[in-house]
Amino acid sequence: MKGFYYHNPTKLSFGKSTEERLGKLLGDNHNRILLHYGGGSIKRSGLYDKVVDILKEMNIEVFELSGVEPNPKLNLVRKGIEICKENDITFVLAVGGGSVIDSAKAIAIGALSNEDIWKFFTDGIDVSDALPVGVILTIPATGSESSPSTVITNEDGMLKRSLDSDLIRPEFAILNPELTLTLPDNQTFAGIMDIISHVLERYFTQTDHVDLTDNLCEATLRSTINNAYRLKENTMNLDARAEIMLSGTIAHNGILGIGREEDWASHRIGHELSALYGTTHGVTLSIIFPAWMKYVYKENLDRFVRFAIEVFRVDGEGKTLEEIALEGIKEFESFLEDTNMPIRLSEIGISVDQFELMAKKCTNGGTIGSFKKINEQDVMNIFELAK
Ligand code: NZQ
Ligand code: ZN
Repeated sequence: MKGFYYHNPTKLSFGKSTEERLGKLLGDNHNRILLHYGGGSIKRSGLYDKVVDILKEMNIEVFELSGVEPNPKLNLVRKGIEICKENDITFVLAVGGGSVIDSAKAIAIGALSNEDIWKFFTDGIDVSDALPVGVILTIPATGSESSPSTVITNEDGMLKRSLDSDLIRPEFAILNPELTLTLPDNQTFAGIMDIISHVLERYFTQTDHVDLTDNLCEATLRSTINNAYRLKENTMNLDARAEIMLSGTIAHNGILGIGREEDWASHRIGHELSALYGTTHGVTLSIIFPAWMKYVYKENLDRFVRFAIEVFRVDGEGKTLEEIALEGIKEFESFLEDTNMPIRLSEIGISVDQFELMAKKCTNGGTIGSFKKINEQDVMNIFELAK
């Protein structure tokens, strides 16, 4: 096991009607806040009215910025920073999914800095300050509600890049599973794939003696998969929705990765698909992850055998280690097909034309990942396997 530093200050308020605790969580320190949200789902569900009523009752002056798109864009972040600076905003409230939260986090950094916000994503500048961010989550997926990350796309060059800082872990996250009942099925299951992949990026490690976190990862994977099947049967199953919502936070609050070297190559490759084609984040992962697995499993066969047996209960009787490992990957693909997730680029209409460009953009002359260090040619090979 490796040494680590772990600090997660996000307060979680979980359960039915927890949005009603917004006032208590905000406290009386903020009288000018930015309310940030997406394309309108929170208006259709009635959540917007509830939030605005609570804020009005607290005599908080609310500045609104809506229109966050999936795979959030830099231009809107810049607009949010301007609003915050012009109006002495002291708090950013994100109501929505990972895209809204990530946009809010980038705004929170830019609001207290004179540096161009994109430089934080590209030049490795350390974040020294940020406005506090609060979250009301409407889609379990990214774990951004308590993660230290934000992922933004710069329309100039269509570059999708991430930035990490403990200073942008939200101050609180309100997690009411009822708010996820309005999700369309494709978003529900894309979110579930994202949750699973956050565990896999940590599970597939070359770090030895990480038994406790291995077991925590496997339990999270089994539980997420079981509850995905429950939701497949009945998307209104609130108990299953609650389990998935908790998994989403656990999968990406960092605890499953403590003491381990993490991988993240599949995410980096997936971001190139989102940047170029606008592909939903979870969809990029359901296509890239199985292909990555097939490409790298020989780097640590035992780990893939363990995955097959512990997560998918593959029966190893009379089989070689390689057969067991490959059966685990096959089971994983079957699960994705059962939840109507695409597992090949051709299923979403993406052909070979841009493979080279995407491979170049994500490796940038170097390598990504750690389970196996992946270079430009490797990314091309993974795209080939994902065709
Ligand atoms: O915009 P609205 O109208 O709200 O609609 C959204 C959006 O179209 C809709 N939606 C959300 N909640 C809903 C709902 N529709 C009906 N009912 C509800 N309750 O769902 C669509 C997708 O929303 P989005 O926020 O884009 O989804 P997600 O949470 O999957 O976020 C994806 C973004 O997060 C990044 C991804 O790369 C992507 O840009 N990630 C952020 C991470 C982080 N900060 O830690 C880690 C992840 O690995 C990921 O990279
Ligand atoms: Zn993700």
